[in-house]
Amino acid sequence: MPSAEFDTYFDQRATRFAAFYGSERVARLLGRGPLFDRLRGAIDIAVSCGAQRVLDVGCGSGPLLGPLAAKGIAVVGIDPAPAMVSMARREAERFPGLLSVEQRSWEEIGETDAYDLAVALGVFDYVDEPLELLRRMGGAAPRVVGSFPAPGLRLRLRQVRYGARGVHVHAYDAARITSLASAAALRVEELKPLGRAGFLAHLARSAS
Ligand SMILES: C[S@@+](CC[C@H](N)C(=O)[O-])C[C@H]1O[C@@H](n2cnc3c(N)ncnc32)[C@H](O)[C@@H]1O
Repeated sequence: MPSAEFDTYFDQRATRFAAFYGSERVARLLGRGPLFDRLRGAIDIAVSCGAQRVLDVGCGSGPLLGPLAAKGIAVVGIDPAPAMVSMARREAERFPGLLSVEQRSWEEIGETDAYDLAVALGVFDYVDEPLELLRRMGGAAPRVVGSFPAPGLRLRLRQVRYGARGVHVHAYDAARITSLASAAALRVEELKPLGRAGFLAHLARSAS
């Protein structure tokens, strides 16, 4: 994913990305309903697997932080973009002691079993080394949740739009997600379709 422009892409657009969550009704009218579906899906998985500690990789402005904290779940959000981190920290202030936000990238995840669940929503889209990200998430937590965009016209348009700014956008079908998971020693618990937008994958460490 990295290019000089990629490094600043999300930082410069943090307010715009955060605004997607301003109104679910408007988001659905604009075809961005899957943003809310994947958030709810990740929250449901965290609750159903009894997670107490969650790592939110590429937490952005922090849309996942408050909903998890409201359920008593502690979350560490990480993101390299300073503007995203500032917004996520404001969200974290609402739940002192439960939420924290660190400015770092997924390449710096070195923790082992520090969390019950590692989540990455809207991140695999931009990752050139998805297997490495999955391995790091699967090392940090025994369960992993990630959203993966599907191939199609919408994805193609994003590739053109983002590509003009030096940002690669990647597509994944179910077979590729399954094979990446297996290479990262994870098994697929569920691949939840997000309409035509892609999948929310719930993965768990394979028994060794
Ligand atoms: C589309 S946003 C998604 C944010 C949030 N997870 C959400 O669901 O709204 C992608 C996020 O990935 C972050 N990101 C980019 N490169 C990253 C990296 N190397 N490690 C972790 N996060 C990264 C961006 O800064 C941005 O906040």
